[in-house]
Amino acid sequence: MNKYDAWEKYAEYEYQENGRHARRFGDKGRKRRQEAEARSALADISDNIQDWVPTYAQSLDPRHHERQWVIESVGPFYRQELISDVTRVVKAGKEANVYTCEATPQTGHELLAAKLYRPRMLRHLKNDAVYKAGRDLVDTEGKLIKGRRVRVALQKKTSFGQKVDIQWWIGNEYRSQQTLYEAGADVPEPLAFEGTAILMEYVGDEYMAAPLLNDVTLTPAEAQPLFRRVMDNVALMLDLHFVHGDLSAYNILYWHGRITIIDFPQLVEARHNPNAFMLLQRDIQRVCDYFTQFGVTADPVQLTLDLWEPYMGRNW
Ligand SMILES: Nc1ncnc2c1ncn2[C@@H]1O[C@H](COP(=O)(O)OP(=O)(O)OP(=O)(O)O)[C@@H](O)[C@H]1O
Ligand SMILES: [Mg+2]
Repeated sequence: MNKYDAWEKYAEYEYQENGRHARRFGDKGRKRRQEAEARSALADISDNIQDWVPTYAQSLDPRHHERQWVIESVGPFYRQELISDVTRVVKAGKEANVYTCEATPQTGHELLAAKLYRPRMLRHLKNDAVYKAGRDLVDTEGKLIKGRRVRVALQKKTSFGQKVDIQWWIGNEYRSQQTLYEAGADVPEPLAFEGTAILMEYVGDEYMAAPLLNDVTLTPAEAQPLFRRVMDNVALMLDLHFVHGDLSAYNILYWHGRITIIDFPQLVEARHNPNAFMLLQRDIQRVCDYFTQFGVTADPVQLTLDLWEPYMGRNW
């Protein structure tokens, strides 16, 4: 078992232990066996702790899977002198964890966010084909994948294929975020991408990360211009041939009166993906659902057509 598999096993054990699954299917003997298995898998791995252990990792048990995962994933950012420390976890999710990092002065930021994907997050990506339809397969540098071996591996989902796949998703997220940022969209500035980790601008301060828009209550006077701003971003994305694909108040941060759109692995290319219109409509519907609570009146179907028809006119 390699170390990524061992971390995953431990993470899975933890997830079941803490999640609904444990309550529904809890049986003590099985749980103990799982824990023993997960721990023994980790014990085989040398405690590869180099000279740098970020503050957050120091707070974890040396055998906790997350400790090595953090050290190794953000290590390259430290060696590139982009960050000087990792101080806390912003959010631990099933597919990725996001951490607060202290930045070095050369980055022009005080804090940065590191998004670390779990090595096997692909297993959880729902409806992968809807998003992938019509996309060219590109490698981590954005070059077209031509080799037969890679294509076959991807199609058959061999472990080599899965590795290529996860890199493909994350590389895609990073490049799209770069394009959006350069075009002036309200997205965090992406700074670096290594392995399965993305380093980007952090929204929030040293005490707290920005809340999700979904957790914020707005006055009608605040809601109207923010809604316009989100819709302007949707229009800008479409000009760049992008549809977010998972847009909602859960993937928008709110900080000091401004919105920041995050989370791009499911972004689709509107020129090539046959599901682009459907995804655009769903994105706009979800944005409207949030804002109508605060007095915004909007017709999501009409708004979608107002964006889509001129776009089609320009591009077909
Ligand atoms: N740049 C950032 N600055 C501050 N907080 C961030 C940033 N990026 C992400 N977060 C926080 O981390 C959480 C997870 O990030 P993101 O939505 O990109 O990942 P995810 O894989 O969708 O995770 P989840 O499924 O838990 O939403 C966000 O909901 C947000 O709270
Ligand atoms: Mg998200």
